[in-house]
Parts: sequence; structure tokens; C-alpha cells
Amino acid sequence: MTSSPPHLVAGLDLGSTKVVAVIADAAGDARDSYARILGVGMASNSGLRRGVVRDIEETTRAIAKAMKDAERMAGVEVAQVYAGVAGEHVAGRTSHGVVSVTGDEIRTGDVARVNDVASNISFGRDHELLHAIPLDYLIDQQAGISDPIGMTGSRLEAEVYLVTVLSSVLQNLGKCVERAGYHVGEFVLEPLAASRAVLTPDERDLGCALIDLGGGSTNVSIFSGGKIRHTGSLLCAGGHVTSDIVHGLQVTQLDAERLKQRYGAAFEPIIAEDEVVELPSTPGQGPRTAERRVLAHIMQARLQEILEFAANEIARAGYQERLPAGVVVTGGGALTPGMVELGREVFAMPVRIGSPGEQLSGLADSVESSRMTVAAGLVLHGAYEVALSNFAGVGGRRSPAVEKLLGPVKRWLQDFF
Ligand SMILES: Nc1ncnc2c1ncn2[C@@H]1O[C@H](COP(=O)(O)OP(=O)(O)OP(=O)(O)O)[C@@H](O)[C@H]1O
Ligand SMILES: [Mg+2]
Repeated sequence: MTSSPPHLVAGLDLGSTKVVAVIADAAGDARDSYARILGVGMASNSGLRRGVVRDIEETTRAIAKAMKDAERMAGVEVAQVYAGVAGEHVAGRTSHGVVSVTGDEIRTGDVARVNDVASNISFGRDHELLHAIPLDYLIDQQAGISDPIGMTGSRLEAEVYLVTVLSSVLQNLGKCVERAGYHVGEFVLEPLAASRAVLTPDERDLGCALIDLGGGSTNVSIFSGGKIRHTGSLLCAGGHVTSDIVHGLQVTQLDAERLKQRYGAAFEPIIAEDEVVELPSTPGQGPRTAERRVLAHIMQARLQEILEFAANEIARAGYQERLPAGVVVTGGGALTPGMVELGREVFAMPVRIGSPGEQLSGLADSVESSRMTVAAGLVLHGAYEVALSNFAGVGGRRSPAVEKLLGPVKRWLQDFF
């Protein structure tokens, strides 16, 4: 193995169908950070279900394989990873805090204090805080202030988005990573990571929904004004589509998965009426065929239901009419042809498929599939943090702009978005 490049970052996406490891070299600065992809590894995994460990040994095996493959490709070794977290055990909510300003102008200490007050709520004994993301500040009841440092006022309020997670879930994920020989440097909410890989700054700013259609769950998150505003997890995902094919076409799980990936479609009209596919069969069943439209029909029914659930989630969050940038679909399910057409029908909004690309260089083509979104986003998150800490490491006096960006508490830095 060669010696490590200076800013090595590793991302580990722990999914219900596969584990993906990505190793990259972080570059750029805090306003424009990017990642040069050095190595990628993927291992199928049946030890996780919707973000929760069901089988420690199987998950440990998958992590070790994915990491080793990524290390071999990169020609480096890593010790720490950014690991993704998602699922029903994750909850997001907005919280509010108020403090009095002590000096004649608002300083970083006041901002840290109000952020801490807003985050200091009870999550229950079993849950812990994963992220606390400042959304908005109010000075003397005037809202819409993104950066209050240096301003004058006597009352400072903060609105903070808090993401909490079931502690035992993190502990078990951490245990698998440790047993595989690595250490989790930081857990990152998957939609936050994914948004770094596939959303443009304009989409995040104008307002858009990001739908990660995975194998075990579908994550729906909303971004607006440059920040995350909502995150929710649906129980229905790609695995249900496969099960429907198993029942509808009387094939095994493995064959259903193959048919889906080879001939599947999310929107029936894109398939020619006379197209026929050969079905795998048992000796007793004899040779069988099915119209490709029948397969598309089965898949569309379920995918439409999933997207309708996602539309309900968006409406419940109060963003139905407030997403000018529309919907970005990613995750393995986004690879289904016809997804954009189906999405436009369900959401009546602009819809596009999100796959990693921007801000990535090196072996970027190894992560440009929608299935790699979270893993690519995790290294971009890492690159951003490396850029921030480099910034913080610069000696001497910092300019007021740098001071503003850094703040006194690292946790707020990490969630600066
Ligand atoms: N080419 C393809 N066409 C259609 N569907 C596909 C394709 N490739 C993968 N999928 C589906 O995508 C799903 C897996 O997606 P993904 O890899 O994003 O899930 P995951 O991250 O492992 O799971 P989760 O995020 O739910 O924990 C599976 O249901 C699989 O059938
Ligand atoms: Mg996933």
C-alpha cells in the first residue's frame, strides 16, 4: 500500500440490499469542496433491514468486503468512515430557542448559546441527537436572518432542525463497523448526504423533494431556502415491487429481481404492446412467456403507490405547493425506466432522476449510478468537513467572514449547510 494522500475520506452506505464503500481525496474550500474518487467497493447484504441491523455477522462481512475492495482499488488504507443513517427510527423536528444578547452586538458565543437552548429538549432516554441544523434566526422578533453575528439587538431567537435517532440502532451499526476493523468517525443522515451528491444549490434554495427509493425503505426529504426542512421514511420500497413480480408472474425472488432489472418499467405506455419476454420456469411449468407490458403493469401499480405515499408525506409536511424545483428521485428504484414519466403524473411537478456527478472527479464514473448516491454524498460531506477544519487550522487572525463561518462550536459547523 502507498502512503495516504493528505485528506482521505471514506463513506459507508449501509443499505438493505447492499453496502457501498467509497474512498476519496477531499479537496477545495468550505464554499466549494469536492472529492476525487479513489476507490469504490460494493457487497450485497441481507443483514440490514430499513437501516436496522438484523444480522451482525452478515453485515460485518459485507462491510469488510466493501471496504477492502475500495481500499484495494484506491491503494490506500483507511481507519475511519462517515456512515449513513436512515429509517423509521430517525425523527426530524423544528425547535425554537430564545436568549438575551449580552453585549452591544451579537457574537458567536450568543449564537452558540441560542442554538444550544433550541437543541436542549428531551428526546426520550432511548434517542440521541444526530444533527442540529440552524434554519433561521430572529433578532428582536425580525425573522429571516441567516447570519446574526455582528448585528445589534437585545433578543436573539433561533429555529433549529433537530434530527434524532434511536441510540441502540447507532450502537449496533457502530459495532458492525468496528468488527469489520474500522471506526465510525461520524454518523450522517442519509438524505443530507444524498442531497450533497445530487441536488443543485438552486434546487435546495428554491425548494425540492428528494426521494431515495431503496430496497427496504423510501426516504422523502424536503429542502427549501438552502436547508433541510423535513425528513420521513416510508415502509414501502423496491423489495415490494420484487415481491409483486414473484406473485404476479409466479417466479422466484431471484428471477423476479432479474426480470425487474432487465425488462422492468415504471410506466406502462413506454413499452411497445407486442413485446414479449421469456419467463424462467420449472420443469413442471414448461416454457413460459409474458407480455412485457404485464411486467410494467405490475411494477407501475406498486411504484405509483410508493410515489403517492411520498406525495402525501410532502403534503403533510406542508410543502405541496411550495416546491418550484419539483422532485428528484434517486436510489436503486430510480434506475427503473419510465420513473420520470410516472413521477410527473403523480406529482404534477418537474421530476428528474438524481445521480452523483457534480463535485466529483477521479474515478467518478464508478459512483455515477443512482444506487451510489448516499455513498458519494458521504464522501462529499467528509470533503466539506475537511475543508472546514483546514480553514479552522489556519493560524493567526481570522477575517470577520471566516470567524462568522467558523463559530465557536464544532457541531454547528458540521451542520452548516
Ligand atoms: N436497474 C434497475 N432497475 C430497477 N430497479 C433496480 C435496478 N437496480 C436496482 N434496483 C432496485 O433498487 C433497489 C435497491 O436500491 P438501493 O441500492 O438504493 O437500496 P439500499 O440502499 O440497499 O436499501 P435501503 O436504502 O432501502 O436500505 C432494489 O429493490 C432493486 O431491485
Ligand atoms: Mg439506501
